[in-house]
Amino acid sequence: MSRRATAPRWLELRLSSQAENVGVARVAVAAFAAQLPFTLSELEEIKVAVSEAVTNAVVHGYGHDHGVVTVRAGHDGRRLWVEVADSGRGIADIEQARQPAFSTDPERMGMGFAFMEAFMDQVDVESVPGAGTTVRMYKRPRPQEGSGTPGEPARPAVAGPHPAALPSTGAPPSQAEAAAGRVEEPGPAGPAGGR
Ligand SMILES: Nc1ncnc2c1ncn2[C@@H]1O[C@H](COP(=O)(O)OP(=O)(O)OP(=O)(O)O)[C@@H](O)[C@H]1O
Ligand SMILES: [Mg+2]
Repeated sequence: MSRRATAPRWLELRLSSQAENVGVARVAVAAFAAQLPFTLSELEEIKVAVSEAVTNAVVHGYGHDHGVVTVRAGHDGRRLWVEVADSGRGIADIEQARQPAFSTDPERMGMGFAFMEAFMDQVDVESVPGAGTTVRMYKRPRPQEGSGTPGEPARPAVAGPHPAALPSTGAPPSQAEAAAGRVEEPGPAGPAGGR
């Protein structure tokens, strides 16, 4: 009766808000995302985006407090979505927070959202001050034009989390440049519910 190619698949992780769990989230989501035909480079991009979102939840959402970071991911066989939610401080001005190089912490570079936007097709942020923040990101595998075809100019190979993630240090120029020259796709018409 159903002609659906793939039933929705999903993942949910509840993590205590410690820096050590950033790696848990990125590896778990990347393993899950590998169910779709992402390239290794795209999987690295997903890892970076997840690291940035989870780091933000830990560092900005909870700070020195303890809380739960919930990471959800799902796909319908065509598009991946990833949600990172905290019940922390929330963001007073989301538009401002999303500006590249904006940070409320002078020690940080303010590039986390820029990386998320550079590496994912779409990033949605919902936040309520005092109640928490949810970041929802979407990404489709790029169509492959046949193996070995150059086609796509060098997207930056990102080997690990944005080093500014934890603790605050500078990002190497290559990553900052990657964020600055971000690649945006027309993307899907809308989030289609996200789950
Ligand atoms: N989950 C969150 N809870 C509360 N505030 C957040 C959250 N995520 C982001 N923010 C706010 O948005 C700002 C921008 O975030 P972004 O990740 O772009 O930069 P950053 O974390 O300050 O620096 P970097 O990511 O380069 O270390 C943060 O400085 C913080 O004020
Ligand atoms: Mg950040």
